Parts: sequence; C-alpha cells; structure tokens
Amino acid sequence: MTDKKYENIEIKREGALTFLMLNRPDKRNAMSPGLHADMCDALEALSVDAATRVLIIGGNGPAWCAGQDLKLYFREGAKDPALRRKASNDSHRWRWELLSKFPKPTIAMVHGFAFGGAFTQLCACDFAIVAEDATFGLSEVNWGIIPGGIVSWNLAEMMLPRHALYYAATGEPFDGKRAVELGLANFAVPAKDLRSRTVEFASKLTKLNPNVLRYTKEAVRVVRGMNVEDAKDYLAVKQDSLMRLDKEIGDRVGMTEFLDKKSYRPGLGPYQRGS
Ligand code: ACO
Repeated sequence: MTDKKYENIEIKREGALTFLMLNRPDKRNAMSPGLHADMCDALEALSVDAATRVLIIGGNGPAWCAGQDLKLYFREGAKDPALRRKASNDSHRWRWELLSKFPKPTIAMVHGFAFGGAFTQLCACDFAIVAEDATFGLSEVNWGIIPGGIVSWNLAEMMLPRHALYYAATGEPFDGKRAVELGLANFAVPAKDLRSRTVEFASKLTKLNPNVLRYTKEAVRVVRGMNVEDAKDYLAVKQDSLMRLDKEIGDRVGMTEFLDKKSYRPGLGPYQRGS
C-alpha cells in the first residue's frame, strides 16, 4: 500500500502496526494549522485501513510534541479569524474526536518533550508508553493562558484532582516515571528501548480479537460519564451487539476451548490464542 505523502506528518508501517509520526522536527513537532489538517486527513484514512491493526502516535526528531505552534496557531490565528476557526476545529477533531474514537487500539509513544496541547492526544490514545527521561509540562500558565481546548478536562479525567491542579497551576515539568505515577502513562522505559517496547506491546494487541478490543475500549471510555444503572444497561446492549457482530464471540469459541477442548487457559496466557 502506498500512503499519501503529507507536509507535516509521516506514515510508517511495520506489519500490522502503523506509526503516525508528527513530522516538524525543527519546530519540535509544534502543532501548526497545516499539521492539524494533515492529521484529520490521515486519521480518517487510517480508521478504515484494514492493514492497520494498531495505531502508534509518535514524533520525528527530538520531541514528541511541543504543543500548539505559538507562532502559526496562536499569533497568526489571532490575525485571521477564518484560519483560527479552521485550525481550532481541526485541532479538536483529530486530537479528540478521531483519536479517542479510533476503531483500533492506539498507543502514544512519547519521547523528548510533551507540552500543553499535546496532553489532549496523549489522553485520547488508549495507551501511553513513554521514555523515562521524557519531559512533560503544562506550560500554558507561562503564556498567560489556561489549559484550554479540552486540556483541563483531559487532566480532570486522567489525574487525581490535587495532581491536576498542581501541575496546571505551576507549569512544573515532570518526567516519564512521574507520568506513570500520575496516571498519564502505562509504562516508562529507557529512551533507547522506547520503540522496541512499544512494538512488543502493540504486537500483543494484534493477537487479541479486534472486535472485542474495540468494544472494550469504547465501553470503558463511555461508562465513565454514566451512572451505574445506565452503565449496566449500556454494557448489556453493547455485549449483545458484539455477539452479533463477531462470529467467534457469538459461537463462544473461547468457552469451547476452555471447557470442552481444554486447549486454552486465559488466566495463564492472555495472548496465546492467535488472531
Ligand atoms: N510553538 C512554536 N514554535 C516552537 C514551539 C511551539 N510550541 N516549540 C518549539 N518551537 C520552535 C522554536 O521556536 C525553535 O524555532 P527556531 O529554530 O525557528 O528558533 C524550534 O522550535 C526549536 O526550539 P528550541 O527551543 O530551540 O528547542 P529545544 O530542544 O532547546 O527546546 C522545548 C524544546 C523545551 C520544547 C522548547 O522549544 C519550548 O519550551 N517550547 C515551548 C513549549 C510550550 O510551552 N508549549 C505549549 C504551547 S501552548 C499550548 O500548547 C496550548
């Protein structure tokens, strides 16, 4: 498959894994209006790309993402309302709507720097694997702005209130190990191992049933905003829908393997069934 070439991002493939890389290394992958438009286009295309089983969001060069481009997004946008409106819409669309609802598992693979607006795509990804020495920061306070877009909401969702307020109010940077403690990342690994550890984890995901994965990620995200009665009802309907969608689940293949054939013990090896 030949992927479209973009000015501000790059698509790389490794088997069933697709790496979607921010590609403005000279500007530390700060998010310009052009980058936002490119990401909207690429995520729309990859969401229906059968070859993509797991999507990894990375960054070329020394940074994962230095946040919104202060010059092209904020300064130029302030002079041109039409540009600002489109950039703002695109920015929200790819970083939240498209990414948080992406139909395959998504992993943020974070190295170098992650600042400000980059927290939205960090939180939109299903998983985050980060370099131990990566630097995270809610630097908005230094620019005289609040963590806007939906960053404050992302923080309130992902972090305990004391931590969210502390880092938002002070702008104090923290490293990858602290990001795990704060609930923003799953694993912190040495920077030199970041790619291999991400590929290792992503490859495990490719061995799980893709429909179950998709329904699970949708369910876990959606029930957060529900009361317990609504969640119970929603999950029952969701499970019913999954049984209809997926023949392996509908036929209860896993139960047959465990109860009758005695060929499969999920408690001993969650990734053993093959895809
Ligand atoms: N917006 C615009 N340009 C940026 C941004 C940004 N957010 N971040 C970096 N750049 C540019 C720099 O202006 C510089 O451009 P130049 O080569 O034309 O001078 C280039 O990227 C390299 O930046 P350096 O600062 O030289 O790189 P260094 O590796 O030393 O530092 C760091 C990287 C720590 C990320 C630093 O650039 C920085 O603090 N950037 C601002 C981060 C920030 O506060 N982001 C939040 C923005 S607000 C928001 O997202 C809502």
